Amino acid sequence: MYRQTPPMGWNSWNTIGHDVNEAVVRETADAMVERGFLAAGYEYVVIDDCWSLRKRDAGGHIVADPEKFPSGMKALADYIHSKGLKFGMYSCNGTLTCACYPASYDYEFIDAADFAEIGIDYLKYDNCFKPTYMPGRVLYNRMSMALKATGRDILFSACNWGEEEVEKWIRSTGAGLYRSTGDIFDTFNSAKDIFLSQIDKFAFSGPGCFNDIDMLICGMNNKGNVAEGGCTPEQYAMHFALWCFVASPLMIGCDIRNVDEDTVKLLTNRELIALDQDLEVRPPFVVHNYPGVTVLLRHLSNNEYAIGVFNFLDKDWNIIADFTEAGLSPSCGYGFDCTDILTGEHLGIYDFSSKFTDFPPFGMKIFRAKLVKI
Ligand code: GLA
Repeated sequence: MYRQTPPMGWNSWNTIGHDVNEAVVRETADAMVERGFLAAGYEYVVIDDCWSLRKRDAGGHIVADPEKFPSGMKALADYIHSKGLKFGMYSCNGTLTCACYPASYDYEFIDAADFAEIGIDYLKYDNCFKPTYMPGRVLYNRMSMALKATGRDILFSACNWGEEEVEKWIRSTGAGLYRSTGDIFDTFNSAKDIFLSQIDKFAFSGPGCFNDIDMLICGMNNKGNVAEGGCTPEQYAMHFALWCFVASPLMIGCDIRNVDEDTVKLLTNRELIALDQDLEVRPPFVVHNYPGVTVLLRHLSNNEYAIGVFNFLDKDWNIIADFTEAGLSPSCGYGFDCTDILTGEHLGIYDFSSKFTDFPPFGMKIFRAKLVKI
């Protein structure tokens, strides 16, 4: 399936991990609608690993665990669709999934047909227990073709953690997004390291096939399956802004049934989501990337720009955004007319060497800007 902009939704792994079940998924679907997530653009509800029995049936089909999913997957898919949402499921290119449930190696066309019969709209496809003699690109291409052979429009979400230089070949397999890093955990360093590891690779991301830097940890507050200490509200805000700045898929990972109002506000921030969903899906131009301080410029549609200034340090800092490093020479006579998208404040013109003072720890500024004559 082709998408012009990155997909948005919710995935079960961060919150519930191995205990995923029908009640949680139904309640989450309800909350997606009731708490305004669907209206903000989050449409996919994705069940991750651990949904099936440990063995295929006699006919070679994967069977949903009847204790976890008593109504069965088709009824669940119908319920999710009845809410105006889309339904995603999970498998893996190896002989087992990462949590050791049956996976799709050599069963690709059978499993794809079963998934299509259930009515899925999205398949996350992991990379565990992959036979070492099989190149990942062949297995991702195989499942992509198996999904297409069903005739159902299914977004194929490849999850190979950035192995085998995935960014160089994944678009050629027809995948719609690709995980480029190892798993995120609920700490700021985890999110920051994942982000920075991709800073030179976002150029491979674009319409049709997006670099997926993993599910969001905003609102997890050290609960759930990936808890490792949690983040402060400022750190969650920066994490979300970073993901939006680079047009990553936005898959919420927290338990949105019990999410606090501040997290809802953050995750449904229209300005940040508009950045994520900008139609041109351009990668950031890296202006500065020094340890602790990153300044990014991004070309947006309609002749606009986004400027992101991020203080990753846990102390106050002043940041000089030397836009000469982006090509804006002192003599050119142009500067960026900036509006802070987080406060709505119109800040006026920043020229080639503007100073952003008094950045608090983990402080950031994100502007929407136009290039104007000074
Ligand atoms: C891998 C993936 C995770 C999650 C787990 C499930 O680690 O990268 O996102 O799907 O498997 O077991």
